[in-house]
Amino acid sequence: MRLLFLGFGTVGQGLAELLIEKEQKLRDENDLEVKVVGIGDMLKGSLYNPNGVDLKGALEKAKAGEKISDLPDAFEGDALELIKATEADMMIEMTYTDIKTAEPATSHIRAALEKGMHITTSNKGPLALNFHELKKLADEKKVKFLYEGTVISGTPLLNLARETLAGSDFKEIKGILNGTTNYILSKMEEGLGYDEALKKAQELGYAEAVPDADVLGWDALAKVTILANTVFGADCKPDDFSCKGITEITAEAIKEAKSRGKRFKLIGKVWRDGDAVKGSVAPEEIDMTHPLAGIMGATNAVTISTDTLGDVTIVGPGAGRVETGYSALIDIINAGGKR
Ligand SMILES: NC(=O)c1ccc[n+]([C@@H]2O[C@H](COP(=O)([O-])OP(=O)(O)OC[C@H]3O[C@@H](n4cnc5c(N)ncnc54)[C@H](OP(=O)(O)O)[C@@H]3O)[C@@H](O)[C@H]2O)c1
Repeated sequence: MRLLFLGFGTVGQGLAELLIEKEQKLRDENDLEVKVVGIGDMLKGSLYNPNGVDLKGALEKAKAGEKISDLPDAFEGDALELIKATEADMMIEMTYTDIKTAEPATSHIRAALEKGMHITTSNKGPLALNFHELKKLADEKKVKFLYEGTVISGTPLLNLARETLAGSDFKEIKGILNGTTNYILSKMEEGLGYDEALKKAQELGYAEAVPDADVLGWDALAKVTILANTVFGADCKPDDFSCKGITEITAEAIKEAKSRGKRFKLIGKVWRDGDAVKGSVAPEEIDMTHPLAGIMGATNAVTISTDTLGDVTIVGPGAGRVETGYSALIDIINAGGKR
């Protein structure tokens, strides 16, 4: 399996570490020989060699804050030129998420699909805005378009829905889709005010300096849209759903809810209403007996309501270098390995 990396930041490097660490395991258990033939990155530069680039060397350079293009096999040109020049079996799209335009990631994915490459991506933009166009193209080219990392990172929610729960009908999928807000709400329950809890989340690297995407619910909204499009087969955009964040929740409201056996969670959900698919993001008071109520800190969790098993809940990390890198490893094995 010849791989082309686009974006060699946090997640790209997490995947590279896993590929090096698990090289033998993939060979033994999945009959999968993986070779990275290209890496494209904005500031770190790019590499291409059809016989394989120096992945360990690239990782060392990237970690040292140096250019990977100082290594042999430097490639001159932008991401689209690299895709055009590269012969690979799968492209790993891990550039930044732009939820308003889904670019440049959509153009990268389209170009790689046109060349007959399988895709794995952790980039929410193309899934929230252009899923059906890209899936149709992938089907025409008879390649896989996989995106496990776009919703709750490497915790295998999408695989669970698509593969493991195959044959089930889903009435609703609802959960804690954003770890930062869950961390803030958990800290507020411990007695911190909203500003203090946000500051702590920023110090720990959970929240950005401008935290709007998390605290106003936009990140969860992108994931709700992805679930609606991919699992429920809808053709929706983020604007089709209502979205409210956690900025109006007070420590007093959290305390008062707790006295009634309830806990506030920022809940993203998608459900069927007749033929329509509905979705929303909003703080909800969850009964303490529900599995989602016990999820504290930056952890994510999702409950899938099925016609076959009733409720199935999956809990796990929603972000992280190796955790999200692992989402791409799952997809690589699904695309090319024996299972
Ligand atoms: N981090 C997580 O835990 C996590 C979890 C779930 C999903 N995701 C998603 O996964 C993707 C990657 O996340 P990340 O945390 O790895 O982000 P990151 O550290 O910012 O890495 C993104 C990389 O993409 C490169 N890049 C940007 N535009 C490019 C272009 N046009 N051509 C080539 N390279 C380009 C950047 O290059 P320079 O820095 O050199 O400019 C950077 O190295 C994002 O879409 C993110 O939303 C991340």
